[in-house]
Amino acid sequence: MITLKSFGITDTTFRDAHQSLLATRLRMEDMEPIASEMDQIGFASMEVWGGATFDATTRYLSEDPWERLRRFKKLITQTPLSMLLRGQSLVGYKAYSDDVVDAFVERAAVNGIDIFRVFDALNDEWNLERAAAAVKNNQKHLQMTICYSVTESGKMEGPIYNLDYYLDRAKSFQNMGADSICIKDMAGLLSPYDAFELVSELKKVINVPIQLHTHYTSGMASMTVLKAIEAGVDVVDTCLAPLALRTSQPAVEPLVVTLRGTEYDPKFNLDTLIGLGDYMESILPKYREYMETPRAAVIDAKVLSHQIPGGMASNLISQLRDIGSLDKLEDVLEDIPVTRKELGYPPLVTPMSQMVGSQAVSNVIFGRYKMVSNEVKEYISGMYGRPPGKVDVSVKATVFESEDETEITTITERPGNILEPELNKAEDDLKDITSDIDDVLIYALYPTTGMKFLRIKHGIDASEEDRDAESKQPLSVDTSSKATEQAPTKSSNIRSFNVYIDDILFKVEVDPTDQNLISISDGIKTQKGSETKPSVNGHTENSEGQLESPMPGVILRYLVEVGQEVKQGDPVAVLEAMKMENTLPAPRDGSIQSLPVEPGQTVVKGDLLAIIT
Ligand code: CO
Repeated sequence: MITLKSFGITDTTFRDAHQSLLATRLRMEDMEPIASEMDQIGFASMEVWGGATFDATTRYLSEDPWERLRRFKKLITQTPLSMLLRGQSLVGYKAYSDDVVDAFVERAAVNGIDIFRVFDALNDEWNLERAAAAVKNNQKHLQMTICYSVTESGKMEGPIYNLDYYLDRAKSFQNMGADSICIKDMAGLLSPYDAFELVSELKKVINVPIQLHTHYTSGMASMTVLKAIEAGVDVVDTCLAPLALRTSQPAVEPLVVTLRGTEYDPKFNLDTLIGLGDYMESILPKYREYMETPRAAVIDAKVLSHQIPGGMASNLISQLRDIGSLDKLEDVLEDIPVTRKELGYPPLVTPMSQMVGSQAVSNVIFGRYKMVSNEVKEYISGMYGRPPGKVDVSVKATVFESEDETEITTITERPGNILEPELNKAEDDLKDITSDIDDVLIYALYPTTGMKFLRIKHGIDASEEDRDAESKQPLSVDTSSKATEQAPTKSSNIRSFNVYIDDILFKVEVDPTDQNLISISDGIKTQKGSETKPSVNGHTENSEGQLESPMPGVILRYLVEVGQEVKQGDPVAVLEAMKMENTLPAPRDGSIQSLPVEPGQTVVKGDLLAIIT
């Protein structure tokens, strides 16, 4: 029986709750006003950082994630601050080199994180080792995390995700020095009785505290949390009611009342919590565009078969909406379990959820494995660690266009071992902009969007005031319009547009603050008006040899130059879409006549990327 003293509640309002419901868009200015009051509630910890917040602040909000953390630390002085860390992938989507891992953990510790919740999408020690050691070196609390997943039946049973699997993971993580163990149920798949059994059995073999993190998605979370408490779980995660339920955490308020007078009573002030909820209600209307509204149900019973976590579901919807294929949502949800099985049953958590999700979208839109992101290719070759199951041999052969499995190089050691140090190069690339280690890490994590953010932050592309004005503009893009608003390339003020007059493309730059026309390019003849069709290569093409963007994203770089001869299928450009890098091939043989997009520029579906004649 656990004592009152050891039972606690963690609040996730400032991180996972809005990551799950609002695509991680909650701004610091809307959290700051209640941070001190939240600090007084008595939470065991507050999760305020990490996960997708680091990416979202730099990519979408023009907000410095390090500054956000320092401000939280100033405002929240009683309650330990926790962050979610994706093992060797930190707060990004790929494995980083060990020197970046060490530096990031150290800076997060210095700037204010007390508890590091460290997980790996594949529950692979190889990907946790370095980050775990770094947390210990900084004398911070290491919470080692088991991603909860199910094989197919939805229960804790079957060939991979059974009770023995979880006990084995927990024991291994405890041996790695964990100060606590977290069960991370990102898709709300953990049923109440499985939770009771899992926590009860873990308690027999694990000496450190056990925390439960679950999502409401399927509708089981409140029951699951209660059964876990009865089984002796030490800490559970909840959030304020306005950002609770749906794909987020269970709400704290009903739990507080449920536990009143029991040995687990957290003795939180309900009226204070309700007042904090009223505040959240007052600021949330401006984020309404990020919420999924068409459904009547607050829960999604189908998640029990498609196993899609909250953040992933909201991302899929916005991605499909951007491509104009929201009607394909059901097909994508059906493809996900198939793709997941073929990829060796990875748990659907970042970055695996993005990989499986975007692969399923590609499979539905372009045909199965016709377009495969560079990340999925690297996963199959072992760069993300060891999958819990086996990757389907025929998928491997299709992806690598090889009949012979032995010809496909796979990695047989900790991926971090074979990555060259990255920090010095990042410092060198930034030497004219900044030498601040926190800035260097932003760039090391996200070379393209991070650089964009840092140039604005350091006034190279816009002043501080301009940046603020910029960041408050709505981010929606009208994909139906021929004149397409592009992300700023030269200054954060200057907007560049692709304007078509009949079939001639002009690139037009405008400064919206004074409505001045900056430049108009020479016309480029295109076949914009002609019929286009999705091709087997996974991009849109027509007979005139134009490469068009198959979906919205950012052009990271071209792999060819104007004048260069290419063969059909040769790599032409790298498009970052759905957080994955996709190499786009030449639609035909010929000579590159024009490359109309600036690297770093945002494109929408159908934007012209290359003309080959
Ligand atoms: Co979560």
